[in-house]
Amino acid sequence: MNQKKYLNHEKILNEEKISNQKKYLNQAKCLNNEKYLNQAQMLSNKVVKRYKHLYKRYAKQNIDIFRLYDWDIPEIRAVVDWYAGHLVIAEYVSKKFDSAWLPIMAEAVAQSLGVDMTNVHLKERHSGYQDGKRYERTAYTDKKIVMSERDLKFYINLHDYVDTGLFSDHRNTRQMVREMAAGKDFLNLYCYTGSFSCYAAKGGANTTVSVDRSETAIQWAKENMEINGISTETNKLIKAHTFDFLEKAKKKGQMFDLAVIDPPSFSSSRDSRHHFDIAQDHPALLKAVVELMRKDSDSTIFFSTNHQDFELNLDELCIGKNSGVAGKNHSSAGDSSAVKNSGAEVEDGVFIDDVCIKDIREITPMTIPEDYKTPKKKIHRCWQIIV
Ligand SMILES: C[S@@+](CC[C@H](N)C(=O)[O-])C[C@H]1O[C@@H](n2cnc3c(N)ncnc32)[C@H](O)[C@@H]1O
Repeated sequence: MNQKKYLNHEKILNEEKISNQKKYLNQAKCLNNEKYLNQAQMLSNKVVKRYKHLYKRYAKQNIDIFRLYDWDIPEIRAVVDWYAGHLVIAEYVSKKFDSAWLPIMAEAVAQSLGVDMTNVHLKERHSGYQDGKRYERTAYTDKKIVMSERDLKFYINLHDYVDTGLFSDHRNTRQMVREMAAGKDFLNLYCYTGSFSCYAAKGGANTTVSVDRSETAIQWAKENMEINGISTETNKLIKAHTFDFLEKAKKKGQMFDLAVIDPPSFSSSRDSRHHFDIAQDHPALLKAVVELMRKDSDSTIFFSTNHQDFELNLDELCIGKNSGVAGKNHSSAGDSSAVKNSGAEVEDGVFIDDVCIKDIREITPMTIPEDYKTPKKKIHRCWQIIV
């Protein structure tokens, strides 16, 4: 949506707000659910305030997708995202789930923002081990629309999955990758719809390799590259399980200078070899990626997770071998974070395990954009690893 449309939207907001609220209260009386109606009122007030605060600055940057609410009020377990005039409204499902609740919240928010209900998309979010559900299909429209993030475009599907094709909480991280990509060979693991690779390619990466086990994701990434005029000759898309890819790449002697690792917290598979649990498996994952990074320049890995109780474990790596800071508990920049590292074993001053990195620091405060910053939780955590 361009800025003119946004400004017009503000006018509509002010004109419609009072009449909509009256309309809404009438519906409330019919439903006779005072508690839900009060919550709906609180939620829409909060969302409208946030929208007014954010929309101009994002319009200026040509950013179509941003977050308006994320469970800020304890009893209102919802998340509200703006998608260029559409709303994606999700409920964090709990045991007390009532199917009437979310439509009431959604209608109030939509009316307050002047969004037609046909452009409101309702979702359910599950947490913990139900994370796998995030990637399940919920409908079969295959309807995608194009939305902008800065000067790049991405296909968005608002109908068929909980996730829509673009994780906006990483838009700053994507920009960081772009700024570092010139002349580099870039690896994107768990690439989903390839947004990091599109940014790297636009930043002048020499080559990009994007890996995901899902054929749907790989096809989607291809469409995203094509719409951005990115060649799929030098920007390879590989359908594979991450660890299978890493093993093959090692055998072939493939090397990279820049990488993004953004895995799901859990992923299961019919083949138990491919089960993944970030808490247990990230040390082996990091080690395997470090082995593929060129050591003659400061190669960089961005590693991210949205697992809420994540504890980084660097047992499989030695840190700062080159700078002589081996086996030390490593501090992180910005936020405090518990980094567990027993250090590589040293025998007569020689590292037994010589998979070493120069440095690692947590950069979460830099990678979480303003619209995703909440005091309650971090949408993701992100580390920069220098190899
Ligand atoms: C959290 S998303 C990644 C988001 C992505 N980095 C982005 O920025 O858009 C998780 C992705 O991991 C993929 N995935 C899950 N398990 C995998 C595995 N074992 N190997 C490769 N890809 C996997 C899923 O298909 C999904 O696309």
